[in-house]
Amino acid sequence: MISPFLSTLPLLLGFSWPPEAYLWFKTLHIVGVVVWFAGLFYLVRLFIYHREAEDLVPELRQPFQAQYALMERRLANIITTPGMVVAVTMAIGLLTVQPLWLHQGWMHAKLALVAALLAYHVFCYRLMGQLQAGSCAWSPRQLRALNELPTLLLVLVVMLVVFKGQFPTGAATWFMVFLVVFMAASIQFYARWRRLREERLAAESAS
Ligand code: HEM
Repeated sequence: MISPFLSTLPLLLGFSWPPEAYLWFKTLHIVGVVVWFAGLFYLVRLFIYHREAEDLVPELRQPFQAQYALMERRLANIITTPGMVVAVTMAIGLLTVQPLWLHQGWMHAKLALVAALLAYHVFCYRLMGQLQAGSCAWSPRQLRALNELPTLLLVLVVMLVVFKGQFPTGAATWFMVFLVVFMAASIQFYARWRRLREERLAAESAS
């Protein structure tokens, strides 16, 4: 139902796309995706710093948290959400030129993952509100784990759009899965090692 609507939309509006329109939509779609992801990754990192600032002495806690709150709001509203809007608007443009993609299984899988990504985006706004109200129950460790989710979605979506109907299941795919899990686990272990070392140094300097 959507696909005939998208293909006739330009005609209904009284114009037809120039031949290079698809490539322009794709260029801007990729730029939007890069900006969107840069924002999502850094936003949750700021949430971690914001949450860790609760352990600071009271004179430092308030200014640090106020600064993080400001940075989060600006990042979310000036970079992350506009990136998402550009990526999604250009994706609609791509489908207007090439509506047949909408009949293919890889596109259905991609759209399902994008829906999950949009839900994550909305959830980040919710967490931002909670952090600013001082009512966020997520620990820095949980936030670090949460920050791995967009990485997984990014890898899957890019694989889908590149391989399309020939989604790979061979050794190379398992190697990629291993690499992503290894990278995510290394980040978690490094953060834990750093925290334990800081705690040990603090205990040593206190004694
Ligand atoms: C609103 C949801 C989205 C729709 C409807 C959509 C649709 C499309 C379409 C139709 C193409 C062109 C495919 C081709 O010409 O081969 C494309 C390309 C691409 N999309 Fe999306 N997309 C969406 C969201 C995303 C997201 C969230 C990402 C990243 C995680 C992404 C990454 C890409 C990349 C990297 C390409 C270029 C692939 C290539 O040229 O081989 N897209 N997208």
